[in-house]
Amino acid sequence: MAVQRRTIRSQRLLNAAILVLVMLTLSAVPRSRHADAQSTTPIYKDPAAPIPNRVADLLARMTLEEKIGQMTQPDRGSLSAEADIASYYLGSILSGGGSAPTPNTPTAWADMYDRYQGIALSTRLGIPIIYGIDAVHGHNNVYGATIFPHNIGLGATRNPALIQQVGRATAEEVAGTGIDWTFAPCLCVARNERWGRTYESYGEDPEIARAMTTIVTGLQGTSLSQPGSILATAKHWVGDGGTTGGDDQGNTQISEAELRRLHIPPYIDAIQKGVGSVMISYSSWNGQKLHGHKYLITDVLKGELGFSGFVVSDWAGIDQLPGDYPSDVRTAINAGIDMVMVPHNYQLFTGTLRNEVNAGTVPLSRIDDAVRRILTKKFELGLFERPYTDRSYTATIGSAAHRAIARDAVRQSLVLLKNTNNILPLSKNARIFVAGKNADDIGNQSGGWTIAWQGSSGNITPGTTILQGIRNTVAPGTTVTYNRTGRGAAGHDVAVVVIGEKPYAEGQGDQPSYLGLDQDDKNTLNTVKRSGVPMVVVMVSGRPQIVSSEIASWRGFIAAWLPGTEGQGVADVLFGDYRPTGKLPHSWPRAETQIPINIGDATYDPLFPYGFGLTYPSLQTYMPLKSSK
Ligand code: GLC
Repeated sequence: MAVQRRTIRSQRLLNAAILVLVMLTLSAVPRSRHADAQSTTPIYKDPAAPIPNRVADLLARMTLEEKIGQMTQPDRGSLSAEADIASYYLGSILSGGGSAPTPNTPTAWADMYDRYQGIALSTRLGIPIIYGIDAVHGHNNVYGATIFPHNIGLGATRNPALIQQVGRATAEEVAGTGIDWTFAPCLCVARNERWGRTYESYGEDPEIARAMTTIVTGLQGTSLSQPGSILATAKHWVGDGGTTGGDDQGNTQISEAELRRLHIPPYIDAIQKGVGSVMISYSSWNGQKLHGHKYLITDVLKGELGFSGFVVSDWAGIDQLPGDYPSDVRTAINAGIDMVMVPHNYQLFTGTLRNEVNAGTVPLSRIDDAVRRILTKKFELGLFERPYTDRSYTATIGSAAHRAIARDAVRQSLVLLKNTNNILPLSKNARIFVAGKNADDIGNQSGGWTIAWQGSSGNITPGTTILQGIRNTVAPGTTVTYNRTGRGAAGHDVAVVVIGEKPYAEGQGDQPSYLGLDQDDKNTLNTVKRSGVPMVVVMVSGRPQIVSSEIASWRGFIAAWLPGTEGQGVADVLFGDYRPTGKLPHSWPRAETQIPINIGDATYDPLFPYGFGLTYPSLQTYMPLKSSK
């Protein structure tokens, strides 16, 4: 028996040993094909991996062509074939002003974006594109989108929290079309109202632009990866609003101390808020084009200010550099530009940059730095995990909730400049006469960058004109007569005359010598004046206009800037449903000869000073608009 027991024990020991051996062997080999696959999944495709690791892993896998493709941004309209998105490994596409799919509907935009994205993901490494657009006062290229007041009006609100709300609403509408990047906010500090882009500035003093960088948080959210967040762009680096004579794309001839005092501060705030991209200005600083300015781009913006996002050129901005095209490419990339808004001949750009790298005139380290910056933002946006449109946001485009925010912004942007004998607020039972070219025109009240690059007059997108707002507000049975040229005012209690500018954008809005009223407006004002009916003038314009010789006959005067689609907000102020709180973001010149005139000038005698704005006597009641929450 003893022998038998010894045999059984030794067998058990042998079995145990075999079991241990088998376990050890199994643990040393992958458990399944899946496990095998997991161990070979690239780090850059692992959402749990730290983003710097994902970037490094992906960069190491990329060819020079793939890297240069990431730095290349054509306009959608310049694609020779959509397949070029893959064959040139394009990292970004843009829609310049008015570059829209047909039909111009939110769904068509989202379908276009998803189609492009699918092509990008078909490449060897499957790097998603990032799509950029000028959503500068709402998703303004898209028919039916909410159009918010342009920046000059937002600056008049002096309300950073409201501007953050505007940013969030804009981001949701942009995200609803798939697009993940807006070329906004413009942080230019407009020092000369002759500049056609004055309305894209929050005001003449950097204090306003600094405060309004809350829009970056609105656009980007607390994290770029959160749904509905899009990448923001601080633009145009730097000094675009300070050119001599207000010449668009001109020369900013000031000391470095002035540049640092007036034009750089808003970028510091935007960088502190995590702005993901910066766009370079067409303008020059003391004769040197910003697109080739290594000191300001690499040493100051990226070095001293610690900007870790990526730098994008303006539209064909590198072409303005002195020298031939290879020199343009070499100078711009070596100056620190990471992505080039080509926007047309991307074939030439990619080939030229490849030649420069192969010739050693553009270091590969510069290419890697640019691509690293671009990829980092794509990973932070979650584009590798969620590359397609989040269609849950498409319904927010032009939504009542967003329009309510825009209406609130309009109300808060209006600046009451004159109110003789408290003619304002108007009675809702008064017999109202309305006149002027900007009273019943959505296009004019929206301004440039609306549907088309330059904007246009007429019924260009759904919204409420100022006249419609007035008609919506008066008591039932009240008379509201409208005549564009002012004929027929007699017999009414008050005439509301809505004058100002027609739409324009960029240099096409430069006014080198005349900022007075146009003849159309002068004729209308004279016609109404002859009727003897008291006048309230509402100015819809992208900047102050010279009104010194006309204003004496106006009982009331409101600056409404470029309110966008929600003209109801103007009527809210006219009838006292909102007491005006707006403050001038610009000094209002008395005469052409005073321009440029800015707060802090040694001699300062404007018609209305920077920061000026009246309100109604406290006896007037007003109803705060129900929160759009
Ligand atoms: C324009 C503008 C810039 C805009 C870009 C793309 O020329 O200067 O603000 O973002 O091109 O449309």
